Amino acid sequence: MSRASVTITLTGAGGQIGYAALFRIAAGDLLGPDTPVRLRLLEIPQGLRAAEGAALELQDAAFPLLEDVELTDDPGTAFDGANLAFLIGARPRTAGMERGDLLAANGGIFGPQGRAINDRAADDVRVAVVGNPANTNALIAQSNAPDVPPERFSALTRLDHNRALGQLSAALDVPVSHIRDVIIWGNHSASQFPDVAHATAEGRPVPDVLAARFGSEAAARAWLVEAFIPRVAKRGAEIIEVRGSSSVASAASAAIDHVRDWVLGTGDRGWTSAAIVSDGSYGVPAGLVSSFPVTSDGRDWTIVDELVIDEFSRTRIEASVLELQEEREAVRALGLV
Ligand code: NAD
Ligand code: LMR
Repeated sequence: MSRASVTITLTGAGGQIGYAALFRIAAGDLLGPDTPVRLRLLEIPQGLRAAEGAALELQDAAFPLLEDVELTDDPGTAFDGANLAFLIGARPRTAGMERGDLLAANGGIFGPQGRAINDRAADDVRVAVVGNPANTNALIAQSNAPDVPPERFSALTRLDHNRALGQLSAALDVPVSHIRDVIIWGNHSASQFPDVAHATAEGRPVPDVLAARFGSEAAARAWLVEAFIPRVAKRGAEIIEVRGSSSVASAASAAIDHVRDWVLGTGDRGWTSAAIVSDGSYGVPAGLVSSFPVTSDGRDWTIVDELVIDEFSRTRIEASVLELQEEREAVRALGLV
């Protein structure tokens, strides 16, 4: 039976990630085969022509679930009645930059969009920020939407989570579908902490599997510190170096995974990672948008609580949170929050 249609706003629709995401959303990969979608595409004037091309192709694909596509350069129009919003439109970094270097260029985008969401979106709006630096851009949007409950804003660390699954799968020769409960803590930046202390592979604790694979606990720890953690945390830079531009299809796929799990629930698949407004859990100052292990009941993210965090992990989490605090100070100084 067909359900009521859902209005989805996507910013940066003329860009790379927008192009990769739109066709999967319209095909039903986000909300399933019974939910029609109405797309609102936001671009800046220079990007409208490319977004118009994407809209023409969406029409040509004749997706049965796609009810409507509207294209605009006005944030108020774009977010009017939005149930879901993907905030993708922002400049990507190039080789040699860190994502935080984009704050000055991109931060200014998210205040006006937050205000438009506040004034025009549907009462149940949920927002996923992809544009970098994603955590702090989400903080800017959320701070500019005082009438929207803060828990409706999130930023993407699902790409990092999926990258961690991919690296573990390759190292352990176990399919990704048999690995559970990996965590990304902190910022979507090189300071993030990909944590496998609570993860399992085919039901066995990953630390034990790694110790067996590398011959000792010390060798497993060395692999985590010297290979796994930096590879996951710096994978975005690796993709830029190899492709010549930043990740696109994997980013669009992760954005869809993130919102799908939020809206449809994580079910019995264990937890995932998402950057959400901290409630003070695990010592992360309340109000920062930081990545946690989370589950969703289909309405809200819930932070997985009472995990035992050892000294090594705590130090890593604190370092990433410190960077988030510095980013918050920087955008305060720019008057963006
Ligand atoms: P892109 O340059 O191909 O596309 C960006 C699009 O955004 C452009 O068409 C541009 O015109 C548009 N845009 C700029 N300002 C806008 C505004 N105010 N409103 C609406 N649209 C606007 O870039 P891309 O490869 O699609 O990447 C987009 C962003 O996503 C970048 O910031 C990139 O760093 C980030 N990203 C994040 C993750 C993640 O995991 N969080 C992963 C990959 C990329
Ligand atoms: C990624 O992680 O691939 C994106 O955030 C793009 C980047 O700049 O690394």
